[in-house]
Parts: sequence; C-alpha cells; structure tokens
Amino acid sequence: MGGVWHLSRRFFGSLLPGGPRRSDRDWIELVLSEDEFRLWSRLYGPDRRHSAGAAREVQQRLGDEATKPVLAAALLHDVGKLDSGLHTWGRVVATVSARVAGRDTAVLWRRSSGFTRRVGLYLHHPDLGGDMLEMVGSDPLASTWAREHHLAPDEWTVERRIAEVLHAADND
Ligand SMILES: [Fe+2]
Repeated sequence: MGGVWHLSRRFFGSLLPGGPRRSDRDWIELVLSEDEFRLWSRLYGPDRRHSAGAAREVQQRLGDEATKPVLAAALLHDVGKLDSGLHTWGRVVATVSARVAGRDTAVLWRRSSGFTRRVGLYLHHPDLGGDMLEMVGSDPLASTWAREHHLAPDEWTVERRIAEVLHAADND
C-alpha cells in the first residue's frame, strides 16, 4: 500500500509545472559546472524539483562527503531523459509498454520513429545520460551513476555507501 501511495504522490506531484525554489536554483548553480548547469536547466520542471530535493537530502545525509561530484550525480543522473522529450503521460505509457513488451525489446524502439522512438529513448536514459555527462566533462562518479542508477545494487561500481545514499534520496 505504501508503494502505491508513494507512486501516486510522485505522479500527482509531477503534474505541477515549474522548477524548484529560487534558493535551490542558486545553490545548484554553485554546485554544478557551467555546462552541467546548462543541462540541468533544460530538464522538465518536476524533474528539476525532484533532483533539487534529492541533492539536499544527499547533502544532509553525507555532510562533508557530499562533494560536488556526488551532488552532480544526485542532480543529473536522469539527464538522459532530455533526449526523449517525454513528460508525465508519455512516461506512464513508456513504463507500461516496457512491462508488456519486455524492456530489452522496448529499448530497441529508439531505432524507430515518432512516439515509439521517444519511448525507446526514454527507456535508454541511463546510458544516454552517462554519455551526455561524459561529453560535458563531468566527474566519472556522476556519469557512472547515471549509467548505473537503475541497475540492481550488486551491479553498482560506484562506492557502495555513496550509491546507497544517492539511491535512497532519489526514491524518497
Ligand atoms: Fe532514471
């Protein structure tokens, strides 16, 4: 029941437009490099709000260990979603379609066109995000976490303690 409540809270929250508070935006501009901030600024409003909350939580939980690369990982691990251009409803369709078709098949849809392609790109967002962060010169921790954040914990190569906090903050 808790899971359903959590999902619906997040779903209805994602229907509100707009990014995070000004104070969060200013803090994030200090944390990220210029290129990273440019990418982050292009994210869908609810994704920016969610990532700001997650980064604040990571900072609270890790204290001095919440270095800029760790915070960049919290803020930008979903940056690959930019390529799909899918917002709330499209993502629901993407998630359900992947369940029906099987994720491996669905990821191949990125070679298709139109909406099907967008769904395929959305499902491929961890690798796309990792590539984007490498291209703007992010710390390897941030690009690696983008690639690994949907993997099972035993497949993570990011330092376990850091990965656990990043994962927990993203799912709160
Ligand atoms: Fe993700």
